[in-house]
Amino acid sequence: MISLDLNNIYAFIDNEEFDTFLSGAGESLKLLHNSTGKGNDYLGWLNLPEKTDKKLLDAIDGLADEFQNEIELLVVIGIGGSYLGTRAVGDALNHSFSHLLPNDKPQLIFAGQNLSQDYLYDLLEVLENKTYGIVVVSKSGTTTEPALAFRILKQHLEKRIGKEASQKKIIAITDSSKGALRKMADEENYRSFIIPDDVGGRFSVLSPVGLVPLGLSGVNIHELIRGATEMAEKSGLSIPINENLPAMYAAARNVLYSKGKLIELLVNYEPGLHYFSEWWKQLFGESEGKENKGIFPASVDFTSDLHSMGQYLQEGKRNLFETVISVKENRHSLLVPGDDNDLDGLNYISSKPIGEVNKMAELGTLLAHVEGGVPNIRLSADKLDAYHLGQLVYFFEKACAISGYILGVNPFDQPGVEAYKRNMFALLGKPGFEKETEIMKKHIQK
Ligand code: PA5
Repeated sequence: MISLDLNNIYAFIDNEEFDTFLSGAGESLKLLHNSTGKGNDYLGWLNLPEKTDKKLLDAIDGLADEFQNEIELLVVIGIGGSYLGTRAVGDALNHSFSHLLPNDKPQLIFAGQNLSQDYLYDLLEVLENKTYGIVVVSKSGTTTEPALAFRILKQHLEKRIGKEASQKKIIAITDSSKGALRKMADEENYRSFIIPDDVGGRFSVLSPVGLVPLGLSGVNIHELIRGATEMAEKSGLSIPINENLPAMYAAARNVLYSKGKLIELLVNYEPGLHYFSEWWKQLFGESEGKENKGIFPASVDFTSDLHSMGQYLQEGKRNLFETVISVKENRHSLLVPGDDNDLDGLNYISSKPIGEVNKMAELGTLLAHVEGGVPNIRLSADKLDAYHLGQLVYFFEKACAISGYILGVNPFDQPGVEAYKRNMFALLGKPGFEKETEIMKKHIQK
């Protein structure tokens, strides 16, 4: 199991204050499990791991066998919750340089997560010389970025291998009945998977949204689900609140927030976790940032960012705290070699594992930052494997829901993300937005 260390927050709070927030976390947990809190029609993620149908995992395994050695790349098209979870888990588990190595499993690459003309152009150039398939993910089936990327890549694939063959290489993951992507999947006979109605985008990585592309790329999705299921069991209503890790973390971040710590930095010491932090930022930012409230979720990759952000973190404004994802064991062994001349002065660490050097950097940074006024929450996982990733994903999903309830917001909606879309559609002259287009024109004239 992953473990949680809150020892380095107590210097910044009173114990009784933490207990008050912990009992608030207990109340929030009840709201969640009894489906009596805000947004309770979006709680499908809560029991998703234990309810994962073996038939679904078998179907994904079957597809993985079919695609193995058939295609070099799998382009995953999606944005936000239909993108970040897959990228987070894929990057954490796959080889750091997988694109540069021969592989029997298709390598994941991504599209539809931006509107960059140059990104898409470059991608088409790469795909010109590769065999590839497409997994297109959109719950609504109407999001502009993935719809645009899919139109381009679908046409590219059809031109390369023909319409019939490309139908076998395209998989759609979308709503069971609504949206343009569902219609297209049905008309074009794509194989498709359903995103449950009651699972919102940022809570969907353990649904077909993440399981299909991850399984096809060789991630052990059985272990991912096993880890998540165990975390679900260990964070249920029957678990004492002071042993319930997501509830404890939710209480800790909220007590710090009440003390003016308005920014939370998710810290990692493994570059493979960079996109895990991006996923986490969406999870917490979109769930809590409403009604003029919410901790601002930010992230840093250490030790890289200690050489850019280290000064600010040590001595800048004291309105932040850190949550460190600490990985105990490396996947591989690599020692610092000795050198007869020792011109670089590194012989004092020769024969030590590089991982130990990294660990000492982690410990040294923790002590320095706490000393400098930055509270520290530490979440430790034995290894970066599918099982522990499953635990981490579920841990943060549950903590986020509890935390949102402590804050008093609906953690499952995102009304604020529509504003830019309305303006963009009006500016582009989308049918149905004529009134807004007129308003935009007046703004532009001014
Ligand atoms: O969390 C969310 O709801 C969003 O990030 C969505 O996942 C994102 O906007 C993509 O939406 P869709 O899957 O409908 O294309």
